[in-house]
Amino acid sequence: MDEAILIEWAGMAIRWLHVIAGITWIGSSFYFIALDLSLKKRADLPAGVQGEAWQVHGGGFYNMVKYLVAPARMPDELTWFKWEAYTTWLSGFALLVVVYYLGASLFLIDHARMPMEPWQAVAVSLAGLILPWLGYEALCRSRLGRNDLLVGVILYVALVLLTLLFCNVFSGRGAFVQIGALIGTIMVASVFVTIIPNQRKTVAALIAGGKPDPIWGKQAKQRSLHNNYLTLPVVFLMLANHYPLLFGTRYNWLIVAIVLLMGPLIRHFFNSRHAGTGSPWWTWAAAAAGLVAIGWLSAQGPRDAVRADGRTPSPVAFAQAEEVVLARCSMCHAAAPVWDGIAAPPRGVVLDNPADIARQARTIALQSVHSAAMPPGNVTEITAEERAILAAWTAAGAPTR
Ligand code: HEC
Repeated sequence: MDEAILIEWAGMAIRWLHVIAGITWIGSSFYFIALDLSLKKRADLPAGVQGEAWQVHGGGFYNMVKYLVAPARMPDELTWFKWEAYTTWLSGFALLVVVYYLGASLFLIDHARMPMEPWQAVAVSLAGLILPWLGYEALCRSRLGRNDLLVGVILYVALVLLTLLFCNVFSGRGAFVQIGALIGTIMVASVFVTIIPNQRKTVAALIAGGKPDPIWGKQAKQRSLHNNYLTLPVVFLMLANHYPLLFGTRYNWLIVAIVLLMGPLIRHFFNSRHAGTGSPWWTWAAAAAGLVAIGWLSAQGPRDAVRADGRTPSPVAFAQAEEVVLARCSMCHAAAPVWDGIAAPPRGVVLDNPADIARQARTIALQSVHSAAMPPGNVTEITAEERAILAAWTAAGAPTR
């Protein structure tokens, strides 16, 4: 089978698994946070029980009881929640390899800003996952790590600086997936190296009839809190790769910085409600303001924007726009692409004849004028003047003559 088809197919299958695993992980963690916060104390609960909750689902009642000591009779079967997280990371990493490492030249590297060989880009990306994660581990384990607020602020500033760095090293799209993969790695690694091991120690101590060291619970709780606040931004970053106005525009890093604040705000609303400590509606107003800010920032055009200015002959004739598209786009976007590794016109977009070019004017503007998403990584070296021609042509309503 053609290698390009095989890679495309693998990407589809792994993405399917990744999304499903992510749903189960996020679903179960949101569920347990809500459950934990909603537990109520009652006088006649058995000793060692923190609280209970009553829930109804699927035609039956569930009475959930949280034991802080080992129950009098240990159950034969104890369900652990960890494979949801591990599967999400493993499938996510596989997808990163298939789409961004095997396709580094198109999706990870920005040939105009920082030309690299694919293996170099992959090495930088791997280092960009491992080193910041080690820094996070060191921070949480250090003396500073005992101050939750301080850790939160340091983590936020570090993630914004890393976003800025990645946006200058990789293509916008590559940078977004890199920061998303980094946050996802931090979250799953916390489950693997802290949350689950500490839970094991706690359970072992309880079964032995001893008292678990409260520090185990404290450490796990801090990691859970970070994961809770980082969940919504990660989902945003994974979806944002499909929106050129987000990753392919000049304030892309600032958009990420805003989303990193919006996620915790919205989680704070739900956490407060589940804990019965009120409904901080202001968080929605703040998040809505963030969304408006993102919309405005994403409309500011690509970093090296050249708006239709005096240098662009105006009005632009269709022939000029067509010439640009044929020279910079049609090697991939053709019924039979000639670009190595592209088996079929990407996303079904064909740009090798006047009728199709005219029909696609709106998406051409979105991908190559309002953002610099296409050509990917600017592999075909479109110039600022050529973008200006496309800008003038689409701004004039994409005339076909
Ligand atoms: C090197 C190959 C290549 C070149 C050159 C190229 N593209 Fe693309 N294009 C792609 C690939 C690959 C995708 C699919 C991206 C993805 O998977 O999200 C794509 C997707 C698109 C889409 C569809 C986006 C969507 O999400 O539906 C449009 C529109 C587009 N390109 C326009 C252009 C324009 C306009 C140019 C020239 C200025 C161009 N492309 C140059 C490879 C290329």
